[in-house]
Amino acid sequence: MGFFKRKHEPKKVPEGRVEGFYKVTGSGKYAAEYKLENVCYAVLVGSTIAAGEIVDINTDNAKDIEGVLDVLTHRNRPQIPAFADEAKAKRAGFSLPVLHTNKIFFRGQPVALVIAETLEDANYAASLVTVSYKTDQAKVDFDKEHATVPIAATGKERGSMDAWSNAPHIREQAYTIRNQVHNPMEMHATIAVWDGDKKLKLYDKNQGVNNVQQTISRLFDIPPANIEVFSEYVGGGFGSGLKVWSNVPLAIMAAKQVNRPVKLMLTRPQMFTLVGYRPQSWQNVRIGADANGKFLGILHQAKHGTSVFDNYGEGITRISRLVYNFGNLKTESATVPLNLGAPTWMRGPGDCTGAFALESAIDELSYDIKKDPLQLRLDNLAVINDPDTGKPWSTNFLNECMTKGAEMINWKSRNPLPAQTKEGEWMIGYGVANGMWFAGRSKASASIIMQKDGSITVQTAMTDIGTGTGTGMQNIAHLELGISHDKIRIKLGNSNLPAAPSQGGSTGLSTISGAVAAVCDALKMKLAGYASLQDAIYKDAKPESIVLSDSGIAYQQAGNHLISFDKIFSKENLQTIEVEASSGPGEERQKYAFCSGASHFCKVRVHTKTGKVKIDRHVCVVDAGYVVNKLAAANQVSGAAVGGIGMTLSEEQVVDSTHGCFIGGDLAGYHFAVNADAPIIEVDFINKIDPNINPSGAKGVGEVGIIGAAAAIANAIFHATGKRLRDLPITPDKVL
Ligand code: MOS
Repeated sequence: MGFFKRKHEPKKVPEGRVEGFYKVTGSGKYAAEYKLENVCYAVLVGSTIAAGEIVDINTDNAKDIEGVLDVLTHRNRPQIPAFADEAKAKRAGFSLPVLHTNKIFFRGQPVALVIAETLEDANYAASLVTVSYKTDQAKVDFDKEHATVPIAATGKERGSMDAWSNAPHIREQAYTIRNQVHNPMEMHATIAVWDGDKKLKLYDKNQGVNNVQQTISRLFDIPPANIEVFSEYVGGGFGSGLKVWSNVPLAIMAAKQVNRPVKLMLTRPQMFTLVGYRPQSWQNVRIGADANGKFLGILHQAKHGTSVFDNYGEGITRISRLVYNFGNLKTESATVPLNLGAPTWMRGPGDCTGAFALESAIDELSYDIKKDPLQLRLDNLAVINDPDTGKPWSTNFLNECMTKGAEMINWKSRNPLPAQTKEGEWMIGYGVANGMWFAGRSKASASIIMQKDGSITVQTAMTDIGTGTGTGMQNIAHLELGISHDKIRIKLGNSNLPAAPSQGGSTGLSTISGAVAAVCDALKMKLAGYASLQDAIYKDAKPESIVLSDSGIAYQQAGNHLISFDKIFSKENLQTIEVEASSGPGEERQKYAFCSGASHFCKVRVHTKTGKVKIDRHVCVVDAGYVVNKLAAANQVSGAAVGGIGMTLSEEQVVDSTHGCFIGGDLAGYHFAVNADAPIIEVDFINKIDPNINPSGAKGVGEVGIIGAAAAIANAIFHATGKRLRDLPITPDKVL
């Protein structure tokens, strides 16, 4: 039913994390931390060439090491149904090389897997595996290769390009972004445990246990019900956990080979090559406006890298279809196959890349027109309808985000001219940019188990990657039921629990809030059924007329007809009461378009002698519908904005085109923004309910914290220095 539609005032929602204690004390276990009896350890050997094939591979020396159980290669690994048949692998949605071929597609590709009694034995033996290769010319240089790849229409054209070819103001620029990696703190890891030939348990780090279950089911031809995937705590994701990577099938194969549980944890350097990245991109944006700054048309072209063995494509140009209202649009895109590992969704995939180009180009246009970049955006926002589908937005308060953010950063105090404001050796600048993200929702299920004392456990298969999903679920259950939060336990991350989609794309809470609301209603009705055996007034009860408390069930309209849980449980001789329910999007999706929005404002200082950029202030105002848990939501936004700072100023996974490898594959060589690089991010929310999206009124919040952040910073750097930088990351050498 949805708590925002109820008449009674919700109690104050506690904001603390349900999993906080367990994560902080170390008692909550990540995938690789489970200690299983008889477990052995696997270590991956990666290819040292980027393209070609294995001519010979010698594992004898490795096998001679005491404690080594076996060494898997493409010659001796167990047969896997889908690998023998390309169509089957395609159906399984799995394209990664996992010892099923002698062909080499990228440097770091698994060529052998050493299995030993201890991690140390396995590591040492892995260093003794020798491989001889026939080397082909590798394609790893995106800048060189993309020029040879033709671009094609995305089918999202509106109006015509000719209609604005004589526009009074036209700006056309290219923008580039280098490869960036996710690297959550928890490394990807799998412990595979076979029970006989047909049953499998996986302790695995991922963002969706059901996705892993389904993929492995199709790859290994095992019914999903025979595969249990367990990911109770997840130490971050950023998108890398949305896919099943090679470590999962490799651990499963190894466990089969040695007939024991096998643990395979990637090393930090392997996290840079084997679990995806945001692909390098080139974009060209042409934007035209009339004399007053009304947008007349946009051409947005994008190319990004992909691997030679799959075809990952992300919607970089989508952002140009959503945020602003104008008549003529053309988007074109292409992917560029490279001999690198597979890229994947990362932190606001597509839109994050696209927004850097679009929001930079708009800024450039504003200075051409001599119009305040804030006002230029406000005048062109698509606040009523989604320009792409023509449907009305269910809610879209991006205009309010802009106005509120402008106040917070005191935008009007800024000198409109660039390169005018100095403080000692520092130049000061302000920048603004918008972000938007499709507010999705999927179907999910949840169940509640109630104990005699009135405490409940709300559970679903969905994982919590650190975003606060479990906490949000507890908050929602508390608001729906009236039971105190300390009597509500949350259980997540197990494929045996009621099915739920992966946590990603800022859809987690939007999706699961529907299931939680539905299962709370189901619990009320079940309790009302029992209560009606004792008091007839409960016969006509509807979920909205029932309030639960820590002591029992009450019928709201009739005042004091409270029946204690104790009475219900003992009278019916019950041990537990269990209910399950599902909920998903409905016809509201036909009627409305849904989006979350954010406005980023940045104040930078740029050092005149060293080119160092310091973020002085970063304000992010978000329209994410009703904010269920302000602390968790603000944490997501500030984490995402810090990611935006890294993306803009330092993150770059350098490709060595001679050896075809990534350089700096560790946390020292690849610089993520840390506390010293970021101010306290000033986050605020519009906090207005979306009445159509789901029972909680909450839209997604994660991605919009980064989408637009890079352009706001780059625009601020231009305002500070007068120098427009279109190639991320903006390192000091480029600033000077
Ligand atoms: Mo994300 S790229 O929504 O995990």
